[in-house]
Amino acid sequence: MRTVRTVRELRAALEPERGAGRTIGLVPTMGAFHDGHLSLIRRARRDCEVVVVSLFVNPTQFAPSEDLDAYPRDEQRDAALAEAEGVDLLFAPPLGEVYPDGFATAVTVGGITEMLEGHPTRRGPSHFAGVTTVVTKLFNMASPDVAYFGQKDAQQALVLRKLVRDLDMPVRIEVCPTVRDPDGLALSSRNAYLSDAERAQALAISRALRAADAAVQAGERDADAVLRAARAELDGAGIEPEYLELRSATDLTPVERVNGSTLLAVAARVGRARLIDNVVLGSGRETGEPE
Ligand code: PAJ
Repeated sequence: MRTVRTVRELRAALEPERGAGRTIGLVPTMGAFHDGHLSLIRRARRDCEVVVVSLFVNPTQFAPSEDLDAYPRDEQRDAALAEAEGVDLLFAPPLGEVYPDGFATAVTVGGITEMLEGHPTRRGPSHFAGVTTVVTKLFNMASPDVAYFGQKDAQQALVLRKLVRDLDMPVRIEVCPTVRDPDGLALSSRNAYLSDAERAQALAISRALRAADAAVQAGERDADAVLRAARAELDGAGIEPEYLELRSATDLTPVERVNGSTLLAVAARVGRARLIDNVVLGSGRETGEPE
């Protein structure tokens, strides 16, 4: 595996590969790898002849109140993990390579960036503007055939699908299942902020998603009844969610009846960690159900 830090080096490394007709897969990350990240890398390794992982903690997607400074960084560890997964290129640019002096452009997606995570009382639409701008840049830098994202950040994945569709970007987006600990907790770099007691409390989030899913599997279709099943688990653990909402899994419009493509999305603060999770109800996927 080679680590490159400039766009020039990245393009020079990829040009002969593209010339030889090899498929290029890109896995964009902010580092602090866990099995969720590694699952995307493994999928890219299976699908593509050349695998590029980008490692860049993108400041423009953090709100001033968020954890940019505290965000875990360990490039050496990440590089060793990427190498062990057979990654070809690790692209780890310094800040000035991505945002040189005078940088003044943004790429924004409308509509679905203004709800849930993008609601002005939460991370706000500027969070997604930060994501769509940096991902557009990464796509222009690496020109991948395929890019891999996690269902854990369901709204981000939908926003990026819309970005690519609306701007005719020549890249295929693959969304990979949420990886969980055996007890159901969705893996996240932010789980590192949880004490043992908080971690136990946080398990109510995946339990709430499973309870809602069980209600749907048992035939419940009424949105309020499904939400009540989820809410009971959160209440039981003393968790007041920032949101707990049923939305279309394809365009995030609100739903009153659950169908085969309904997303239940939740965000909650546990201790100093802000956790998000989701499930596509009744799909038989993503429930974190212990086997
Ligand atoms: P980051 O939080 O590092 O996540 C990188 C990728 O890993 C994202 O696509 C995310 O959805 C996926 N991921 C995180 N936890 C996961 C889990 N438990 N299971 C499966 N996939 C998981 O998301 C970002 O970085 C940034 O916004 C980025 C897209 C890199 C733009 O800066």
